[in-house]
Amino acid sequence: MTQVSTDLYDSAAAAIRQRVDRPIRAAIILGSGLGSLADAIEDAQSVPYHDIPGFALPTVSGHSGRLVFGKLEGVSVAAQQGRIHFYEGYTPEQVTFPVRVMRRLGAHILIVTNAAGGINRAFVAGDIMLITDHINFVGLAGHNPLIGRNDESFGERFISMTHAYDRDLANCARQAARSAGIDLREGVYAGVAGPFFESPAEVRMLRTLGADAVGMSTVHEVLVAVHAGMRVLAFSAVTNLCIDSLVSDQAPNHEEVLEVGKSINPRLAALIRGVLRSLS
Ligand code: HPA
Repeated sequence: MTQVSTDLYDSAAAAIRQRVDRPIRAAIILGSGLGSLADAIEDAQSVPYHDIPGFALPTVSGHSGRLVFGKLEGVSVAAQQGRIHFYEGYTPEQVTFPVRVMRRLGAHILIVTNAAGGINRAFVAGDIMLITDHINFVGLAGHNPLIGRNDESFGERFISMTHAYDRDLANCARQAARSAGIDLREGVYAGVAGPFFESPAEVRMLRTLGADAVGMSTVHEVLVAVHAGMRVLAFSAVTNLCIDSLVSDQAPNHEEVLEVGKSINPRLAALIRGVLRSLS
């Protein structure tokens, strides 16, 4: 197995520092159709992925590929506008490469957003779910970025995922939701490989196992963030309800995910801004 060398993370961080010389406090990953928050970053400087050694390029519509640096609510941030997914054929290490580079650039906090299908029967399309825990199907099965030689420059060999999602940041999000009048759902995110939307039997299985939402991202990035000692806050934008019956005539599709994602954007932005305000 070829692994990303420690040097490549350093080269990527150095290439970015040559163009943007400011430390980052919070890294933000913007999911499918959720990229517009990056446009609100003040004093912005962006670096396209293709200018950074080691960065893979997104191949999916709805994902541009650049890092945007600047200030949001007084906090120094870097937003990953355009995410890499495992289903694009990239390795979990490639998928999570940007997170480790942001850690090298000083980020101690990772804020992750994703588009997800609603599994919990109480959810409706358009909801936002605070992720309190996850089931990492891909990772449990052995496809995860921590497999192989442990990179001690980031963290230890064995890590605990007990409090992967930081409880203080989650409380900040609840407070931000109350202040903004947003009805924030909470629950467990199931990370699957995709790119297919789940079959009805799979949806019922995920519900039985305790998942509230399902998506094709996030768990890899959260794993490396926790490994590197970062505090994680994550939200799912519930862009569709998963179909759990063969009787249904409906079927989820990527266009719907992007479309509903856009309508969720303003509330998601308000939540993230609220959390950042409480940090500044
Ligand atoms: N399943 C998996 N991933 C998703 C979904 C879904 O229904 N919607 C958005 N991302």
